[in-house]
Amino acid sequence: MEIADRIKQLKKEKNAVIMAHYYVPGEVQAVADYIGDSYYLSKVAEELKERIIVFCGVSFMGESAKLLSPNKKVLMPDRCADCPMAHMADRETIRKMREAYDDLAVVCYINSTAELKQYADVCVTSANAVKIVKALPQKYIFFIPDRNLARYVAEQAPEKTFVYNEGFCPVHEEIRPEEVLAEQERHPGALILAHPECRKEVLERSDYVGSTSGILRYVSQSDGREFIVCTEEGVSYKLRQDNPEKTFYFPKTVPVCTDMKLNTLEKLLRVLEHEDNEVHVPESLQQEAVEPLKKMLELAK
Ligand code: 13P
Ligand code: SF4
Repeated sequence: MEIADRIKQLKKEKNAVIMAHYYVPGEVQAVADYIGDSYYLSKVAEELKERIIVFCGVSFMGESAKLLSPNKKVLMPDRCADCPMAHMADRETIRKMREAYDDLAVVCYINSTAELKQYADVCVTSANAVKIVKALPQKYIFFIPDRNLARYVAEQAPEKTFVYNEGFCPVHEEIRPEEVLAEQERHPGALILAHPECRKEVLERSDYVGSTSGILRYVSQSDGREFIVCTEEGVSYKLRQDNPEKTFYFPKTVPVCTDMKLNTLEKLLRVLEHEDNEVHVPESLQQEAVEPLKKMLELAK
């Protein structure tokens, strides 16, 4: 029996559901029940009925699913799949910022550990950050961990004063403006699409900036025929599936998140067979870490 068929069979037998981020390999997205960006996946995680969630993504996504669905067994194909940016902030700096500013909200990108989330007022994803920051009563925003997304949100919410943190996504940070320009010279009619985790110089040259699902939506609604995509290449699976008549290019150094690619079909099958690699969030921080996530889901409605 094919791996994909065995996965489908086990999923039924074990009352499991498979969730996958757009950055995991295409063949894994193909067997998933829910594929999406971080915001969509966290909304879905809260409402699932199945006994087991297999989360094909990185650690902070598995943790968020566990926090939002604490009675489910949350498994990950590879427990080493982690997001480096999720660790790029610290408790001590947050404490100092709270001391320095009276009217401060600590806004935590969902790409962060549960440990960091517990110190935040609210979480955001790239799909809802602007809306949520604008809805907060505080004037000062300490945005962790991503400085690139922070700067992008600050531009859309000029009424707020941002305090920056020096975190970044190594994959999006590596997208070079000169490579994007070179691609545009090769394909002058192509529209440039970028994730807000990219550097400022890339966003300034882009025709559209948004989360992975924002990019997918934009392409489906656009009359454009060619696109230069400035985000992780896994998104091309759905872009090509939904838009077979359109053409997609990536910068010469193709952006690949090696952590997301740890989610292989073989590991997915293995984890369904053995029910190991379970995600646990220490009880001591569960309550405080889930609050900012719930607040995000509430404010983003
Ligand atoms: P979104 O899923 O919000 O587009 O974020 C991209 C990302 O880097 C996930 O790790
Ligand atoms: Fe983290 Fe960047 Fe990979 Fe997303 S693409 S999981 S932000 S390292």
